[in-house]
Amino acid sequence: MRQKGIQIIPRPSHIEAQAGHFTLTPHTVIQLAPGTESIGATLAKHLRPATGFPLPFAGTSSVTKAPESVIELRLSDAPPQTGDEGYFLQVRSNHILLRAAKPAGLFYGCQTLRQLFPPAIEASARVAHAAWTAPAVTIEDTPQFVWRGVLLDPARQFISKQGLYKAIDWMAYHKLNRLHLHLTDVDGWRLEIKKYPRLTQVGAWARLDGGLKIGGYYTQKDIRDIVAYANERFVMLIPEIEMPSHAGAALVAYPELNCFGTRTSIAQFPVDPLCGSEFCPGNDHVLEFIDGVLSEVAALFPGPIIHIGGDEAEMRYWGECPKCQARQKKVGNLHDWFMDQVRDKLAAKGKRAMGWSGVTKGAVFTCWDNDGSGGWGAAKGGWDVVMATGNHHYLNYNIERTTLKTAYDFDPAPARAALSPEARRHILGFEACLWGEMIPENHLESQAFPRIVALAERGWGVERPDFEDFTERLKIHVERLAQMGILTGPAYGYPIQTALPGRIRNAMPSLIYSASQNQNDEDWRWTLTGIDRGQGYDAILPAQAFDGDLETFHMSWGPRKDVDTFTVVLNKPDTFDRVKAITGMANGDHILREGVLEVSTGYGRWKEVARFKKGVAETKLDRSKIVSVRIRSTINQPPNALLAIREIILEKNGQSTLKTLSPVDRLHLPAAASK
Ligand code: ACM
Ligand code: ZN
Repeated sequence: MRQKGIQIIPRPSHIEAQAGHFTLTPHTVIQLAPGTESIGATLAKHLRPATGFPLPFAGTSSVTKAPESVIELRLSDAPPQTGDEGYFLQVRSNHILLRAAKPAGLFYGCQTLRQLFPPAIEASARVAHAAWTAPAVTIEDTPQFVWRGVLLDPARQFISKQGLYKAIDWMAYHKLNRLHLHLTDVDGWRLEIKKYPRLTQVGAWARLDGGLKIGGYYTQKDIRDIVAYANERFVMLIPEIEMPSHAGAALVAYPELNCFGTRTSIAQFPVDPLCGSEFCPGNDHVLEFIDGVLSEVAALFPGPIIHIGGDEAEMRYWGECPKCQARQKKVGNLHDWFMDQVRDKLAAKGKRAMGWSGVTKGAVFTCWDNDGSGGWGAAKGGWDVVMATGNHHYLNYNIERTTLKTAYDFDPAPARAALSPEARRHILGFEACLWGEMIPENHLESQAFPRIVALAERGWGVERPDFEDFTERLKIHVERLAQMGILTGPAYGYPIQTALPGRIRNAMPSLIYSASQNQNDEDWRWTLTGIDRGQGYDAILPAQAFDGDLETFHMSWGPRKDVDTFTVVLNKPDTFDRVKAITGMANGDHILREGVLEVSTGYGRWKEVARFKKGVAETKLDRSKIVSVRIRSTINQPPNALLAIREIILEKNGQSTLKTLSPVDRLHLPAAASK
């Protein structure tokens, strides 16, 4: 059987229709034609650890008699329709033949091949007694969209170089090929620019209350390393330098670039997200600065495209700024004039501009409206468009807002968009956006997976998308991800996740991973950035509900409906002796009136273990490994009711997640809660 445009995760039932299978053995040889050496080496690197087989390489001329089992890679005689990224894969009982016209196609064929073997093939150490079989199959596969992207946002919370490498690895495994890096914003400037050293000396670092310095940036050498790493995996980097707004970090480093020099410190979300963080488009030095920056960016990133933002300009000071006003009299729309200037500067450097809004024709338009209609309209008007829709692609949104199915259901160019063949060609593909305000690096994967697999599959293109079928295949795929050490997040009832104060991560044996609240209209998660930020504004964050401190609490509206929950997901499944949840403030206000405490043993297998009495629920636990604990309201609360979740406490072997018990709390805790 021949399959065209197969899924990202091949479907075994289809494939097994063909008789027989291929078995990897200690004698399997990888036969490499000229030009396939490095991709063959990468394939061997992936197959060797789990199998323990040597998988030696043979040149085409050195194989005289057919060995018992061969994986053969060729960069020739592929059917012409395989294009730049397609491949042709035949699996037979003693011979796998993978052909492609271009290296990228060969590389993607190798990813499919990895997924035809049992999930344990991805283990990092030898797995004994496994049958390393792949079903016999013929696959002819070509992507429907060239732009299969991921946006990462190290500007908001810095992502280490190693973190980017890991993301590039999982992107490549899912045939994703564009990594858009949001490198600058109000929270930090993350790219070394030699001509303007203060951008990273000053702009890469925030000081939290208490003086702690956080942040980071990529040196130009880091970028060259990341570009090389991405290149080997057929991932193109798309750097984004935001303008004219979201420029707060640059304006702190060089205040003269702002109309009135009003930015004085690096902001940290959720404080002060934009607030006049715009370059002054009336100032010629601003364009000179932008040109200097973009010259270095253009030299560092070999790809043809540089993203220049353009979104959410509030133009707060432009109306009062004499320079801006003088310019506006000459040019009309200041924002669009500014974006055009920058587009032209990029063109002079041989680069094409890309933007969120305010970019003119010739630039690539990143469509971030909720449903995609603006993107389809733009494509009809002749723009090249990448779909990054709020409803489907913003994976920073929680799983209640953007479900696995919502992600899967998005076709970048659906029939209902009524695109002409010409307009259809302007839809380049999609980007999964992982905006970083509330996603620290160590939560990136659990936030992205498994929804990103759904986007990858639809972005690659499926002939007959079938969500039920996808979820069946995904169950197996999650095992592959687990073998790779990728923590899969909110698929099976794991809701929203937030980070922990570093104090807790360090003080406790990595017990608690994240917490979340599920409320009807809650789009965004709250998080701490691994830092204990103390009282005041932050004292209502969810992490305060499991910070080991009875003096702090998480305050939320509601829960308003009986489905509302507050969930803590553990770092890894474990057994505990006791669990206790305490709601209400020290004075007894804002307790959970009626509700239950539940634990999950995985994949949404929730079990009620205790009921709340006077705001407190506690119980012994049996020896089952649990993955999460949650509080569930069982009544509709009065409108505007508040709920204070003071602490969720886990105990094991005499250790407790509870660190302090202040005298005030001893006095005020309900009897059941004091020890
Ligand atoms: C965006 O979300 N402001 C592009
Ligand atoms: Zn101005």
